[in-house]
Amino acid sequence: MKHLTVVDHPLVQHKLTLMREKDTSTASFRQLLREISLLLAYEVTRELPVTTKQIETPLCPMAAPTIEGKKLALVSILRAGNGLLDGILELIPAARVGFVGLYRDEETLEPVQYYFKVPKNLEDRTVIAVDPMLATGNSSVAAIDLLKQAGAKNVIFLCLLASPEGVKRMEEAHPDVPIITASLDEKLNEKGYIVPGLGDAGDRMFGTK
Ligand code: URA
Repeated sequence: MKHLTVVDHPLVQHKLTLMREKDTSTASFRQLLREISLLLAYEVTRELPVTTKQIETPLCPMAAPTIEGKKLALVSILRAGNGLLDGILELIPAARVGFVGLYRDEETLEPVQYYFKVPKNLEDRTVIAVDPMLATGNSSVAAIDLLKQAGAKNVIFLCLLASPEGVKRMEEAHPDVPIITASLDEKLNEKGYIVPGLGDAGDRMFGTK
């Protein structure tokens, strides 16, 4: 898989435009995020290994394709990751689910872990880490560090928007982790927001602030 894939499907881009608009309501934002997650889930699973199993249709036996190996692990990077997670789970209901919670230490500015719970046998699963915004990349890199420490060997990172700075940081820290995104935006601003972006994804999906 390429290191960076931008999903330029017209439906994804159309929905993303609606999400970016500042007057889009919380309810619409959430609904659009759910819809876009389904489309991104389709793309992120495109290269999963497939094997065949012997089944019987009403007409005859056949060797039919099926996804190989253990169930996928979806890992949400809290809290905004949960918005992407819900939609993906609709498409992949048997996936196992983990959560990584990180906050930024105000003095060191380094991400600090406050929650970590992931499925067993991570080393045998494809792990899809989800966070809508790849901004500085600090929390994504730290979350993937933790997943690898827990045994993950095959990680894919899925986001809605990425900044060039975040992509570079991920490429340096985790060159083996492909990134799938709906858009590579222009830059980060001085406050670490993605520009043009869509604002604070967590606030917009949960109606906080
Ligand atoms: N997190 C967000 O929610 N938005 C940004 O633009 C950057 C990080």
